Amino acid sequence: MSIVIAVDGPAAAGKGTLVKRLEEHFKLSKLDTGLLYRATGWKVLADGGDPEDAEVAEAAARALDPAELSNPDLRTDEAAQAASKVSAVPGVRAALLDFQRDFAQKPPHLADGSPAHGAILDGRDIGTTVCPSADVKLFVTASTEIRAKRRFKELQDRGLDAIYARVLEDMKERDERDSSRSASPLVAASDALLLDTSDMDAEQAYAAALDFINSKNLF
Ligand code: DC
Repeated sequence: MSIVIAVDGPAAAGKGTLVKRLEEHFKLSKLDTGLLYRATGWKVLADGGDPEDAEVAEAAARALDPAELSNPDLRTDEAAQAASKVSAVPGVRAALLDFQRDFAQKPPHLADGSPAHGAILDGRDIGTTVCPSADVKLFVTASTEIRAKRRFKELQDRGLDAIYARVLEDMKERDERDSSRSASPLVAASDALLLDTSDMDAEQAYAAALDFINSKNLF
């Protein structure tokens, strides 16, 4: 049986670390769906367009090639802000839906060539819209200040110049846009495990997720 795990939550809540551990532990194929929106936003910027222009943004999403997802520029805050803007466009979300659902239903083989036991997708609306019947739903969150501090440290560790007040402001702006948009806003599914990692380290978050998944006897 191929299982589907949906992991949603705001930026820098600890989704990436958690997803990586679950992916390896359960031998799942992973899709970071934020990359789809980042690649769309980046394409619009590269063509000199405005990420808030619905027509341009939708055309970029429809023309997206999965090979573009490995572009390192997608990790920049510029790409994140553009992603947040294009992701509010309903046509963009519709254009990216089939790719995400196909991935969940037919997860690609693992890097070592063996078949995956299922798929793990992380984003904002996986448990609510993309895979509403996912076997496991996790909603990972943390206070805005804690998330901004984590992002600030991550930028510093990468040797990038960063100002904490600016990072916090960007985080608030992106949270507000992601939560208030009418198309698939960031909201926890009613059957998701809520994991507030404000006072948890990565190990504790992983243990809590593992307990929840194991309680479902899926594997
Ligand atoms: O997870 P991330 O930081 O890479 O996401 C970048 C932006 O993309 C985020 O601000 C909101 C949007 N996004 C979305 O709307 N739906 C998803 N499933 C994933 C990301």
